[in-house]
Amino acid sequence: MRTHHLAVLGGDGIGPDVTDAALLGVRAAGERFGFTVHATDFDGGAEAYLRTGTALDDDTVLRLRSHDAILLGAVGDPRVPPGVLERGLIVALRVALRQSVNIRPVRLYPGVTSPVTTVTPDNCDLVILRENTEGLYTGGGSLSHAGTRNAVAVQNSVTTAQATRDTVEFGFRLASARRNRLTLCHKTNILVHAGQLWQDVVDEVAADYPDVEHDYVHADAMCQHLPLDPGRFDVVVTDNLFGDIISDLGATVQGGLGLAASANHNPTGSAPSMYEPVHGSAPDIAGTGWANPAAAALSAALCLAGLGERDAALALEAAAASVLAELPAHSGPEMGDDTAGIGRRIADRVIDIDPVAVADPDRSLMSALATLAPAHRPG
Ligand code: NAI
Ligand code: MG
Repeated sequence: MRTHHLAVLGGDGIGPDVTDAALLGVRAAGERFGFTVHATDFDGGAEAYLRTGTALDDDTVLRLRSHDAILLGAVGDPRVPPGVLERGLIVALRVALRQSVNIRPVRLYPGVTSPVTTVTPDNCDLVILRENTEGLYTGGGSLSHAGTRNAVAVQNSVTTAQATRDTVEFGFRLASARRNRLTLCHKTNILVHAGQLWQDVVDEVAADYPDVEHDYVHADAMCQHLPLDPGRFDVVVTDNLFGDIISDLGATVQGGLGLAASANHNPTGSAPSMYEPVHGSAPDIAGTGWANPAAAALSAALCLAGLGERDAALALEAAAASVLAELPAHSGPEMGDDTAGIGRRIADRVIDIDPVAVADPDRSLMSALATLAPAHRPG
């Protein structure tokens, strides 16, 4: 029997609840498709930070490395200054574990309504690949004369060929496993240095993928094309900042942050990848039981795909999508079930749902990821 060792970092607020609920679906998939899940809880987030004064220590990174994959809930707490945990834990892990590609699927599942009337399940199935470790997010720079009228801030942006290539190469591989189309999204007309590097890498890698068509869209224009004509995109590759912004737009297009999933993907297999819902710790509803675990369950489906469990991933995605279609647009008492209850509903459906109920198995992200993701098998 195959065993997958998962590190589980529930984090803060609704993070632990949605992660526990998602794990029910993962275990159900294991029962159906013949693998065992060994989950180890990790302490991380606000409580641990307030107790120890560090967001992430070397020993934790070392222990995380010995797992096949990491499931993250969310971090963030009103008692901790903004940025401490986001940068000190999440961004730090992405860098330490070379999770250089952030995978953000943008799919409108049948039965879910997009706030954009032109978006339908038939035209909304794209994948945004955001470079995950560089750009303006490396933190370098300075602020002089702070708090005065002469204040000057410099925020450095770093773009290396290696990290860009990680994202672009994975993009072409993914596009060739899907609909053979890749779009570079940047601002090459203004950010001429970084833009040129991105375009050079795309042109160079494109030569190895003659079957994949590629084009270019400015980041600002993307904010119009994505909601109005999502069907023109298959795989979109972009830098860290533009990716952050357009993938939140993508989340809105697909029905809301509450159902957006993501993977922090290590394309080399040198360390475990990390899977997390896009939403945060939602302190406003923490403890109410109203957190929707669908985004966490869809992220866990990406995790199963990353572990090579294609059918399990497709079944968990289909089960989460079918439960989503029954939930109200906004969480609250009208959901009928609490977070754990919705997790159990998803898990029950994993057992007998048709794995290809909502996906074309030959074109789906889950199938592609199951084939393309390199195994990280530490032990
Ligand atoms: P948020 O995503 O936590 O919440 C935004 C709104 O959406 C809230 O009204 C919340 O109740 C609702 N919401 C979020 N997830 C939901 C779910 N699963 N089910 C139902 N409703 C849901 O974003 P916000 O409020 O800006 O940030 C709260 C904290 O989370 C902050 O500390 C922030 O820094 C952190 N954060 C952490 C992220 C991460 O761990 N990757 C990502 C985004 C924010
Ligand atoms: Mg964001």
